[in-house]
Amino acid sequence: MQVFSGSSNLPLAHKIAQNLDCKLAKVEINKFPNQEIRLWINEEKIDHKAVVVQSFAKEPDRMIIEFCLLVDALKRLGVKEITAVIPWMGYCIQDKIFRNGEPLSSRVIADIIQATKVNEIITVDLHNETTQGFFSLPLIHLSATNLFVEKLKNNNLDCLVAPDVGALKETIPIAKAMNLPIVIISKKRDLQTGKVQILGIEGDIEGKNALIVDDFISTGGTLIQAAEFLKKQKAKTITVAATHHLFVEGVEARLEKSLIDKLYITDTINSEDEKVDHQFLDIISISETITKKID
Ligand code: R5P
Repeated sequence: MQVFSGSSNLPLAHKIAQNLDCKLAKVEINKFPNQEIRLWINEEKIDHKAVVVQSFAKEPDRMIIEFCLLVDALKRLGVKEITAVIPWMGYCIQDKIFRNGEPLSSRVIADIIQATKVNEIITVDLHNETTQGFFSLPLIHLSATNLFVEKLKNNNLDCLVAPDVGALKETIPIAKAMNLPIVIISKKRDLQTGKVQILGIEGDIEGKNALIVDDFISTGGTLIQAAEFLKKQKAKTITVAATHHLFVEGVEARLEKSLIDKLYITDTINSEDEKVDHQFLDIISISETITKKID
């Protein structure tokens, strides 16, 4: 088995290759003069099984094309079995038609991935579990829950907070594993402007060390507002655990300046180039969770 990677998350691909006791294969990726992607697998020996690692993040459109080209090149080299590791499934946020005239983007991306004819897909914490239904290929849907529980079990937390009803799917398993109550925030997002408004809270937060759990951070608006709201309700400390950090421009600084005391994320998306304060931000690797599912 060999591990190949597009350019989206080389550090994670390296870790997965290491765990599988193999080297990351050589893939050269650059651009033709007209900006189209040029890719070359520079390996003499090609095994019949391959793992392709690519998160559809940061420049998602480019990463999706890189992925498709990489899989095509492997097929042409005679690789028979390909496992696609897509830790962040780009476009999975648009998993519904919210307003007439919108695309079902998540379904479109599922169709594109399946058209490459990979054999199976491994992904982590989809925004909506029902997205799995858009795939007819075997799809292994992993969660960062156990990693967060392991990391936070001795942090003297008093309760978990779901920053919206959607986040309950990540919050409930962690609350169960840590035997803690859940507080739910109700929030409304303006579909036009993207602005978030907190409507209220169900549960008691005064004097508590709270852990907010969410699947991803984009603009940071949800979490920053939730932290402000909880501190107004006299929460003692605010810790956040979110699987995917999309590293949208400027969000790092905003999160650090916010009322969040500590932030835990995973490495589903490459953070290597980011200027991150590791006192504030702790990055937990998802590599072993993924590797365990590769055979
Ligand atoms: C909402 O449904 C998501 O799970 C996140 O809470 C949210 O969308 C993250 O986006 P942002 O960081 O822009 O508020």
